[in-house]
Amino acid sequence: MTADLMGGTPRPKALVTGITGQDGAYLAELLLEKGYVVHGVKRRASSFNTERVDHLYVDPHQEGVRFFMHYGDMTDATNLIRIVQETRPREIYNLAAQSHVQVSFETPEYTANSDALGTLRLLEAIRILGLEREVRFYQASTSEMYGLVQEVPQRETTPFYPRSPYGAAKLYGYWITVNYREAYGLHASNGILFNHESAIRGETFVTRKVTRAVARIALGLQDTLWIGNLDSRRDWGHARDYVRAMHLMLQQDEPDDYVIASGEQRSVREFVLAAFAEVGVRLVFKGEGADEVGVVDAVDLERLTVARSGEEGGRHVPIDGEGPIVPGAVVVRVDPRYFRPTEVASLLGDASKARRVLGWEPAHTFAQLVSEMVAHDLAEARRDELLRSGGFTTRNSHE
Ligand code: NAP
Ligand code: GDD
Repeated sequence: MTADLMGGTPRPKALVTGITGQDGAYLAELLLEKGYVVHGVKRRASSFNTERVDHLYVDPHQEGVRFFMHYGDMTDATNLIRIVQETRPREIYNLAAQSHVQVSFETPEYTANSDALGTLRLLEAIRILGLEREVRFYQASTSEMYGLVQEVPQRETTPFYPRSPYGAAKLYGYWITVNYREAYGLHASNGILFNHESAIRGETFVTRKVTRAVARIALGLQDTLWIGNLDSRRDWGHARDYVRAMHLMLQQDEPDDYVIASGEQRSVREFVLAAFAEVGVRLVFKGEGADEVGVVDAVDLERLTVARSGEEGGRHVPIDGEGPIVPGAVVVRVDPRYFRPTEVASLLGDASKARRVLGWEPAHTFAQLVSEMVAHDLAEARRDELLRSGGFTTRNSHE
């Protein structure tokens, strides 16, 4: 079978912006599994930034290559036009964004440029090239647009009230996508996705920050998890389930907008408790506000030993007298630096339209998500511990 044909017909071709991000990587995997040719847009960076998709890379000199990356940026219109012109995709998934809410307060103009105007630039590229009838467009919209929520749970008809430069920029992206659908007949859909996580989630989003810290505390590589608002509540799902929904939206005869959510809500505090439980630590929270702390209440030594050494009984990492995990130890502390100028306190989605129209169902539970993330970060922490004990240095990345 050639790279261009599948069963005698041309392979579907997709262009994915934000290919190096969490969702870009899972979506690329999904599309390749489905037989697509996948073109991704990656940013020029001073060091490699393709770790999440390196396993998909095939030397372009080989036969039958179906995964390609192109340098590009959402702030560069001419570049986007050229990439769309050269790749001529059937489906475009616009996932690229400055996606960190807190960072958007520090870089509001850049966030608007990449997330709001970037979406416009890509839509205009389609129009300038006269591809309105050929291309299907997916916009990565977000539950952050609901912000100060006007209705619980949030659904497609719930009014928006963004609470950050990120939320406001994404609101523009949402409406300009709707406008291009209505004005030019473009098959353009918004996925209003609630928080979705995974083992490859960016390390500074709260779930990954927690699971990394739990693993590193368990291995004695770190003493404390410094965290922000523990009361914040989110509707967390698994990214693999959510990229399936993106693809489904573009397979519909008619474009439309869909909420994608798990329909369950938990606090950041509950996430922290669940993650520590994965390594055999029962935590209790004491105090209030910025003085609240998470204290080790009880330790299941058998479970902690497995967490430290690995399921296969790998290298034994001794516990006694080492590391911060002893009853009474404070392992979680609040740092108001992580509080946001305006917070989105609570998000809960109603995905019944997606379930009904797209036939979408999430396959992962919250418990599976936490378990997978902690297991992945334990493996990384064990590797770091092994390297350090062998006299090597390991990466020391910080927010
Ligand atoms: P992510 O991991 O932060 O990935 C963002 C991607 O966008 C990365 O590939 C990043 O490149 C790229 N990017 C950032 N600025 C760019 C620019 N100016 N030009 C070109 N590329 C740029 O985000 P994610 O979690 O995969 O989310 C994917 C999309 O869904 C984003 O638009 C996000 O806002 C939206 N969303 C996410 C969630 C969620 O819970 N994950 C929920 C709703 C909506 P680098 O790798 O070089 O940084
Ligand atoms: N990042 C972070 N770091 N968040 C913290 C921390 C911390 O130390 N402590 C508490 N939080 C709280 C935040 O204040 C927020 O209420 C919640 O945890 C979730 O924060 P993030 O994980 O950073 O995600 P987010 O909800 O702000 O944004 C994510 O989800 C959106 C969809 O609702 C991002 O992926 C956005 O791109 C996405 O649109």
